[in-house]
Amino acid sequence: MQDRGHWGSKVGFVLAAAGSAIGLGNIWKFPYITGENGGGAFVLIYLACIAFIGLPVLTAEILLGRAAQRSPVSAFKALAGEKTPWKGIGWMGVVAAFILLSYYSVVAGWALHYTSLAVTGGLMERGPDGMEPLFGELFASTPLNLRWHLIFMVLTIAVVLGGVRNGVERWSRILMPLLFVMIAVMLVNSFTVEGFGEGLRFVFGFHTEDLTAAGVLEALGHAFFTLSLGMGTILTYGSYLNPHDDIAAASISVATLDTVISLSAAMIIFPIIFTFGMEPGSGPGLVFITVPVALSQLPAGATLAVIFFGLLVFAALTSAISILEVTTSYFIDEHQWSRTKATLVSGIAIAIMGIPSALSGSTALFGRGYIGGRNWFDSFDYLVSNWLLPLGGLGIALFTAWRLDDAIRHREFLTGSKLAVFYKGWLLLLKFVVPVAIGFVFLHAVGVV
Ligand code: TRP
Repeated sequence: MQDRGHWGSKVGFVLAAAGSAIGLGNIWKFPYITGENGGGAFVLIYLACIAFIGLPVLTAEILLGRAAQRSPVSAFKALAGEKTPWKGIGWMGVVAAFILLSYYSVVAGWALHYTSLAVTGGLMERGPDGMEPLFGELFASTPLNLRWHLIFMVLTIAVVLGGVRNGVERWSRILMPLLFVMIAVMLVNSFTVEGFGEGLRFVFGFHTEDLTAAGVLEALGHAFFTLSLGMGTILTYGSYLNPHDDIAAASISVATLDTVISLSAAMIIFPIIFTFGMEPGSGPGLVFITVPVALSQLPAGATLAVIFFGLLVFAALTSAISILEVTTSYFIDEHQWSRTKATLVSGIAIAIMGIPSALSGSTALFGRGYIGGRNWFDSFDYLVSNWLLPLGGLGIALFTAWRLDDAIRHREFLTGSKLAVFYKGWLLLLKFVVPVAIGFVFLHAVGVV
């Protein structure tokens, strides 16, 4: 077996895993689904899902990765035998990684476009009334979508080419702390706006009347997406974790950082919305339309726009790196390719696969309905979020709790752990609570419940 390389330190693993978890899911998606589901009660359910479902699966994925010292497909073979059907979970994860990154890169490309507009002054000059048409123009433009999608893929490939120490870890060490500083700057700004109190009451007030069954299920599904679970991303990162590091403690750190960033993003966005009398439930356009509108009316808006969209690009890049790492490590481990060849081949394939998603707003061919009337872009998102991730998460929970050798599971959880007392509780959650809950998300996607 070739040397896989390891994280330079425990902080390196936590920063990289947090870099994977914290992305468009936190800053773009979490605030808008919170708005659509009426705020407070949804946030509370979401936090419960992170703690009791996301956290145990996160621990399971890291544990499987470190126990096997391999990427997903090879990991299941190493732990359950060459012919094991469980390796299907790994296969599905590799397929999911190809699909997810191909359209994730398109949204990240929008953030790049907005960053470049903000830097050159072209964003604020549109004025508040120009923001909605501005997003509409971007969405309907073939050259802009193609250009930024491809630029974002080149950035992602360049980072992964450097390998674990020099690439992923070094970039995470630079980008993640910078992200926290930018979030803090934006938060301080939100403290000063008139709608801060109202925004805070919206995010943390307990308005059960707005909560629906669909909202509860959405909170559960988002817990998986936001923690990068169900695809082997975290499993792959776990395979680079040092043998003496505390897996449970690392999981708690990652989940906490991810949650702090999501809550901060909501605390940044909602005070702005209430200050300017906007609609909290305005959907996926929240970041790209509402935030620039609000910023254009603030004295430091032009500077804040650069910070905000720069932050979104950084967050998306550290997540994209982790997705490409899944396909890269698959080709290294299963086909003995060099890192350079594995990264280039899968990265270029994903960039090409993303072209239909990039053109979903500008061409009739990819804008028409594919799955259930969704355009190509939305169909890819639907396939991954509603099918592949919940299935993968279910498989990982079931494998870890019911199939994995007890001695391995016990050893990996307890080695170097100060949290040994939680072993039994963690196993109970994985055996029963997690499969039932994920099964529920899955049945919801099928339309049975
Ligand atoms: N968690 C990231 C976000 O919130 C996205 C992501 C990265 C992801 N890797 C993943 C989602 C693996 C699911 C599986 O933006």
